[in-house]
Amino acid sequence: MSQLIAPSMLSADFGNLEKDIEMVNASKADLFHLDIMDGLFVPNISYGFPIVKAIASKAKKPLDAHLMIVDPDRYLDAFAQAGVTYLSVHYEACTHLHRTIQKIKSLGMKAGVALNPHTPVENLTDILLETDFILIMSVNPGFGGQSFIKNSYSKIKRLKQMIDERALDTLIEVDGGVNKENAPLLFESGADILVAGNAVFGAKEPILAIKELKKPL
Ligand code: DX5
Ligand code: ZN
Repeated sequence: MSQLIAPSMLSADFGNLEKDIEMVNASKADLFHLDIMDGLFVPNISYGFPIVKAIASKAKKPLDAHLMIVDPDRYLDAFAQAGVTYLSVHYEACTHLHRTIQKIKSLGMKAGVALNPHTPVENLTDILLETDFILIMSVNPGFGGQSFIKNSYSKIKRLKQMIDERALDTLIEVDGGVNKENAPLLFESGADILVAGNAVFGAKEPILAIKELKKPL
């Protein structure tokens, strides 16, 4: 079981992005979480390749891109070229999910499947074996700073059981409303990676906030 922290750059200061990138570099964080939104799959537009490339050029930790876009197959090559290591696509956005996962892996990236809060983890039965990680959305995707949906604990536990029953090493990432109060229980429930936007960038001392999220049980 890993205990990794992925600050979500959606909550960073885009007027002074370099400062926030260097903060993450200097912290105990493990990944840069990049939220890509197209205004169609989710009711918000975030940022695209110029920002992803700017972060890639300064980041000293792997990039974890979360695609909240329709038909993500159109951009898989471009994210690989931009320097992304972990790439997740939404279950709800992929008609041929198996093919999409194979393509992500063939490009040398770790392949993840993200689930909206209403999508049962049991829907992953026939794809779990192919994945490197599963991203459980613990808020409705689209915005930072929302409240954690408590049903996510049960989803994480059921997914962890599915992974263990199959003796897989698939990682579980949890995204949305994560804070220092719920982080210990999320790790205990089976999470390996916690994404945190507001809890990191809204804190007075982001480096300390990251450390607190990571605190061992
Ligand atoms: C929401 C994004 C999240 C978001 C998390 O659609 O996927 O990554 O930035 O932000 P917080 O931690 O503030 O809920
Ligand atoms: Zn995200």
